[in-house]
Amino acid sequence: MLNKNIFIRLKNSLFYISIFSTLLFYACQSSVQELPQTHPYPVIQDATSSNAMAVSAHPLATRVGLSVLKKGGNAIDATIAIQFALAVVYPRAGNIGGGGFMVIRTDEGEYASLDYREKAPKLGSRDMYLNSEKNVIPNLSRIGHLAVGVPGTVDGLLKAHAKYGQLAFADLIQPAIDLAANGYKLSPKEVNRLNKTQEDFRKHNTKMPVFVKEKPWQVGDLLVQQDLAQTLTLIRDQGRAGFYEGSTADKIVAEMEAGKGIISHEDLLAYESKWRTPIIGDYKNYTIISMPPPSSGGIALMQLLKLVEPYPLSKDGFHSVDAIHTMVEAERRVYADRAKHLGDIDFYPVPQDSLLEDAYLLDRMADFSRDTATKSESVAAGAFEVAMESFETTHTSVVDKDGNAVAVTTTLNGNYGSKVVVSDAGFLLNNEMDDFSAKPGVPNMYGLIGNEANAIQPGKRMLSSMTPTIIEKDGQLHLVLGAPGGSTIITAVFQVFLNVAEFNMSLEEAVWASRFHHQWLPDQIMYEKDGLDNVVKKALEDKGHTLNERAYLALIKAIQVLPNGDLQGVGDNRSEDHAEGY
Ligand code: GLY
Repeated sequence: MLNKNIFIRLKNSLFYISIFSTLLFYACQSSVQELPQTHPYPVIQDATSSNAMAVSAHPLATRVGLSVLKKGGNAIDATIAIQFALAVVYPRAGNIGGGGFMVIRTDEGEYASLDYREKAPKLGSRDMYLNSEKNVIPNLSRIGHLAVGVPGTVDGLLKAHAKYGQLAFADLIQPAIDLAANGYKLSPKEVNRLNKTQEDFRKHNTKMPVFVKEKPWQVGDLLVQQDLAQTLTLIRDQGRAGFYEGSTADKIVAEMEAGKGIISHEDLLAYESKWRTPIIGDYKNYTIISMPPPSSGGIALMQLLKLVEPYPLSKDGFHSVDAIHTMVEAERRVYADRAKHLGDIDFYPVPQDSLLEDAYLLDRMADFSRDTATKSESVAAGAFEVAMESFETTHTSVVDKDGNAVAVTTTLNGNYGSKVVVSDAGFLLNNEMDDFSAKPGVPNMYGLIGNEANAIQPGKRMLSSMTPTIIEKDGQLHLVLGAPGGSTIITAVFQVFLNVAEFNMSLEEAVWASRFHHQWLPDQIMYEKDGLDNVVKKALEDKGHTLNERAYLALIKAIQVLPNGDLQGVGDNRSEDHAEGY
């Protein structure tokens, strides 16, 4: 059902379609571009190909992956190359100074998930962001050196390569080195973000990084990152030791000492990514493969799907009052569980099996009424005002010619993370420590609250909402998807999947359709600007819901295997995402 929201989005996108000569190059692909008249590289947001497909947040990164795929690299090789390229061309979220999660389904149907989430440093402690009155010190966990968790990306990508890689690691990282050394032209959204962040960069860096400029950045300016090229070269030549030891480690520790941070050589040496058992569950004839703790994504997504499975969503219709109400009531209950029960499984006994038990989930909706909103206070105590900051994480989906699939979400947390660039090493450090619960019941920058399960402990990983997900239909690869968007990632993946599975949408309709989000607290339905019909909004308010408009909710990057075996890749038309295959 193509409702008004999709129509508005399609209309806006079509408005931007131009430069048809560029599109001739991609004659076999249908494409929709965002702001092509100013983006320095042609952007394709909807592409169909018969062999392989990659979707990422930047055209140059997607093309790095595509060239790996064309050279015979598999989906894991392409993903690694894309991640390093994003660390150069998408500095606000692509990273080597952050962390991420990777979900893999091989062509033989083997499932794997890799956790390279950051860890709290050894000197981290439960109350490290509290003052003497035990109140949270504003921004201490969000910006600057103390906000940084021990980075996991380099160890994670090397571990993925050691197990699944086919091409030489050096060949996968080299395109990123070249992009850093030779430079790339800035896009409209990157320029906007860089210009907005100048003051923070100046304030939180002892040595001014390349991102700082006297006059505002302009679209098309060349960004050259020589220090980053050198660091990537060390990783190419020395592997793990090129980052966690030697001169790069020395520079990280020196940066920490200069800015009163606490990451030590010992922390860097001790960092280790981990293979974990994915969350696997069924929804009707679909099998969901997603990320386990320390992500909340997989458990929450499975809970959401199981809670709504008994209800006639398809019959109710896309964005009908009944469908939204049912989905929101499920979201409210799942996020209440998230706050209480989820954290790093290596440190806290997350009741994973109980949370996904049929009997528990059935009981969870026992007080659900089709007519009235349940107040969040009655699901659990507490109510908060929340100011959601901009969030930045990034997702990549890849399928290769053999059918190996990768969904990977990586993050610095906020835009440009802690805003701290390691002096002379050229990479940004994350502000992931804010994903811990600094104090039980006090919201983080996504308005999420946590408890004991997600309290800070040395060496512990902070809870995440990243939800890299692969979905089978009748046992065959069907969808690969994920998104940035902090707390809204889980509900965006949930809705895009239901748009395909229940509301019979094509992938581009499903991804571009407007979204809504409820996270228990604050007790409100967030919805995208112009995203809900006024009649629907009024009916939801009549049921007792509070509504709150947002600019956008998460940025999905997805691939679908079409009935004829072709691969459709779709980037989010809220962003500069790029899909391309061959
Ligand atoms: N930093 C966002 C997340 O991991 O959920």
